Amino acid sequence: MTGDAVNYAGRLRLGVNIDHVATVRNARGGAYPDPLRAARMAEAAGADGITAHLREDRRHISDADIDGLMQVLSVPLNFEMAATDEMQKIALRHRPHAVCIVPEKREEKTTEGGLEVAREENKLAHFIAPLRDAGCRVSIFIAADRRQIEAAHRIGAQVIELHTGAYCDAHAEGRLDERDAELERLRDMSAFAHALGLEVHAGHGLTYDTVAPVAAFPEVMELNIGHFIIGEAIFRGITPAIVEMRRLMDEARA
Ligand code: PXP
Repeated sequence: MTGDAVNYAGRLRLGVNIDHVATVRNARGGAYPDPLRAARMAEAAGADGITAHLREDRRHISDADIDGLMQVLSVPLNFEMAATDEMQKIALRHRPHAVCIVPEKREEKTTEGGLEVAREENKLAHFIAPLRDAGCRVSIFIAADRRQIEAAHRIGAQVIELHTGAYCDAHAEGRLDERDAELERLRDMSAFAHALGLEVHAGHGLTYDTVAPVAAFPEVMELNIGHFIIGEAIFRGITPAIVEMRRLMDEARA
């Protein structure tokens, strides 16, 4: 499904990130548990899209997973990748619905910060142009920072995804003043980006405890959530884990 095939009207979308099904699979080097099976179950449970991050070191999602997802999904694939030539070639071969450009460091456990767009404007503008031309919606994963949002707009991205990690970490560690300040920043920057004409997504670290205030921002059109949902699936199963996230999002939005 390419960029134009999705109806953008309607409810807040939930993209389920299945990277960590692959993390568990890779712990034993075999084929189980299968991320494609998780993706199909997520679709059936109400996910509006599937997100998968093909990292340079292939620590979780593999090239074969991306091939399989492109074949089996009936909801859009949000293909997360670093801005490298190798990944650009892979994205152009598959032409997924969306390509989300993220910063990537080998030594990090997860995507730690947002992309530094303002410093790399020219390079990124050239990098994303062929992806846009191929029909992919290009999303840039950035901190809730006015300078980065303006730069993402200037380079021609259609979408920004705001990094919610600092907000979620502050919540988890009981730094409540900081949490509230991060939330305020996310709220302000969602409105700012929307006013520029960018579609606004958000994600990273969201849980049942932190999702509602972000889901309530009227400008946010999609949340991408992975680690918590896959973790919660251990205890209650993937379908109930997603149904509950969906319920919290819908309730917050209403
Ligand atoms: N959005 C982006 C751009 C990400 O890199 C990630 C993590 O891979 C997520 C959303 C999902 O974050 P989490 O797994 O913490 O829910």
